[in-house]
Amino acid sequence: MVAILILIILGFYSFHFPHSLKHSNKSTTFQSLFLSSSSNSTISSYLRTLTMHPHLAGTKSNSNTALFVLNHFTSLNLKSHTTSYNVLLSYPLNSSLSIHLTNGSFLNLPLTEPGLDVVHAYHAYSPSGSVYAKAVFVNYGREIDYHTLGVDVKGCIVIARKGGGLGRGTVVEKAEKNGAAAVLIYNDEGDTWRNGFERGNVMKGVGDPVSPGWGSVDGSERLSLEDNEVLERFPKIPSMPISADVADAILSSLGDNLVPLEWRNTLKSKGVISHVGPGPTMLNFTYLGEKKVSTIQNVFAVIKGSEEPDRHVLLGNHRDAWTYGAVDPSSGTAALLDLARRYSILLSSGWKPRRTIVLCSWDAEEFGMIGSTEWVEQNLINLGSKAVAYLNVDCAVQGPGFFVGSTPQLDSLIREVTKKVKDPDSKGVSVYETWSASDEGNNGFHLLMCITEKIFLSITLLSTPITGWQNMEIHSSSAMLPLLEFGAF
Ligand SMILES: *[C@@H]1O[C@H](CO)[C@@H](O)[C@H](O)[C@H]1NC(C)=O
Ligand SMILES: *[C@@H]1O[C@H](CO)[C@@H](O)[C@H](O)[C@H]1NC(C)=O
Ligand SMILES: *[C@@H]1O[C@H](CO)[C@@H](O)[C@H](O)[C@H]1NC(C)=O
Ligand SMILES: *[C@@H]1O[C@H](CO)[C@@H](O)[C@H](O)[C@H]1NC(C)=O
Ligand SMILES: *[C@@H]1O[C@H](CO)[C@@H](O)[C@H](O)[C@H]1NC(C)=O
Repeated sequence: MVAILILIILGFYSFHFPHSLKHSNKSTTFQSLFLSSSSNSTISSYLRTLTMHPHLAGTKSNSNTALFVLNHFTSLNLKSHTTSYNVLLSYPLNSSLSIHLTNGSFLNLPLTEPGLDVVHAYHAYSPSGSVYAKAVFVNYGREIDYHTLGVDVKGCIVIARKGGGLGRGTVVEKAEKNGAAAVLIYNDEGDTWRNGFERGNVMKGVGDPVSPGWGSVDGSERLSLEDNEVLERFPKIPSMPISADVADAILSSLGDNLVPLEWRNTLKSKGVISHVGPGPTMLNFTYLGEKKVSTIQNVFAVIKGSEEPDRHVLLGNHRDAWTYGAVDPSSGTAALLDLARRYSILLSSGWKPRRTIVLCSWDAEEFGMIGSTEWVEQNLINLGSKAVAYLNVDCAVQGPGFFVGSTPQLDSLIREVTKKVKDPDSKGVSVYETWSASDEGNNGFHLLMCITEKIFLSITLLSTPITGWQNMEIHSSSAMLPLLEFGAF
C-alpha cells in the first residue's frame, strides 16, 4: 500500500504578469534547479517515517509527526513554528455487533481489521448507544431511496452503502429523520479490501465544535457540550462503518420486501442481496465512545517574499490519519516536505520568491478540518488582507489518473503547469496530454470548477464577508509526478 511519490504543484501569478519578463533569465535557471532537485528517494524516506505508526489526531504518535515535520523545516533553515489548539475530538471505547437469525442462531460480527494495531472502526462524534432491532437496507440512504423503499424504518437499524453523493453525516441525518435507531455504512466498491472499515466523522460543519467561529487557543471561550449550537453539530443516533463482508452477512439474511429494481443494477454484490427487510434478521449494535478535549498541532514554514512580502501564497496538507495514512495524507505530506527541501536548495543559491510562501501541515483534518479551521479563525483578519491563494494537496498519490479542482481563476494556471510535467506513466507525453485525452480531461472544465470539501479555507472565508481567495486541490497519479513550479521566481 505504500506508494512512493512525488508531487506537485505550485502556483504563480507572476507567470501571467508581463513584468515577470524582466526576471525570465534568472527565473529559467531557478526553474531548472528546482526541477533537477526532485528526488524520489527523499520523498520515499519521508513517507516511510510518517507512516511508521498510526497517527490519529490527538495521540502521542501524531504529535511525533508534528515534531518530525518541524525538525525537517528547521534543519532546512526555514523559519518555522507550530500552533497548538485544545479541541473536542472523539474516540471509540467499545463496540459490538451481532446478528440474530430467525432459527435462533446468532453470530458476533467483526468490527476490527485483522492484524492491524489501529483505532477500532468508528464514526467520530457518533453518540453512544445500544440498539436491538430489525435490519433494513436503504441503498445510499438518500431521500429518494427511502421513497423507493416505501418501508417504515422507524426503530430499525438501517444499512446504507457509500456512493450516492451524500456525506457520511448526511446519511446518518437522513436516517435519523426517517426514524431509524442506528446506521451502519459500508463501501461496496471493489473486491480487494472486503475486511476493511472506512472510518470518518459524522459531525456537521467544520472546526472545533465547542469554539465555532473563533480560534480554540488557550484561555478562549468554550461552549458547553449541552449548548444547542454544539448539540446540533452531532447526530442523535449511533452509527458505525462496517466492512463489505460484514454487510454481505447481514444483507444476505434479509427477507420481506424485494430489492427495488432501480437499486439492483448498481449493486456490486449482486447475488447476495435479494430482499431489503425489515428483518426478519435482528441486529444487536452497541457503540460506546467518548468526546475528549485533546491537543492538536499545526506546523508551518514561512519563506518571506522579496517584492510583495505581505501577499501570501499558502501550500498545505493535513498530517493526521485514521490509521497509517500512506495515501491519505502522507503521500501529500511527503511531497510537501520534499518541496520544502527543494525551496531550501533554491534559497541557498540566492533565490527569493516574489511573494511570501507559507507551507502548512494541518492537524485533525479527519475530524472535520479542525486544525486548519481553528488557524483561519484565529487569523481571519490577517489572512483576509494577505492571502492571495491556497493550494491544497491531500492524497498526492492514489491510483491512476490526475484529479484537480479549483476556483475558476486558477484554471489556466493548472493547464499550463500540467503541460510542463512529464507523464510518469506514459513515455514522452505530458500530464496535460494524458489528462485531456481521458474522461476526466474531457470533463476538465467541470472538474476545475468544482470546489471540494477539502478546500476548507474558502468555505471558512465564504462564511465571512472576505472574498477573493483562489484555491485549488490536486491529486496525482499512480507514479511519480513532479509538477513544477514556475513564474514566482
Ligand atoms: C536573457 O537575457 C538576454 C540579454 O538580456 C536575452 O538576449 C535573452 O533572450 C534572455 N533569455 C531568455 C530565456 O529570456
Ligand atoms: C527512484 O526512481 C528510479 C528511476 O525511476 C528508480 O530506479 C528507483 O528505484 C527509485 N527509488 C526509490 C527509492 O523509489
Ligand atoms: C467492552 O465490552 C466488553 C463486552 O461487552 C466488556 O467485557 C468490556 O469490559 C468492555 N470494555 C470497556 C472498556 O467498556
Ligand atoms: C441458522 O441459519 C444459518 C443461515 O442459514 C445457518 O448457518 C445456521 O447453521 C442455522 N442455525 C441453526 C441452529 O439451525
Ligand atoms: C446486545 O449486546 C449488548 C452488549 O454486548 C448486551 O449487553 C445485550 O444483552 C445484548 N442484547 C441482546 C438482546 O442480545
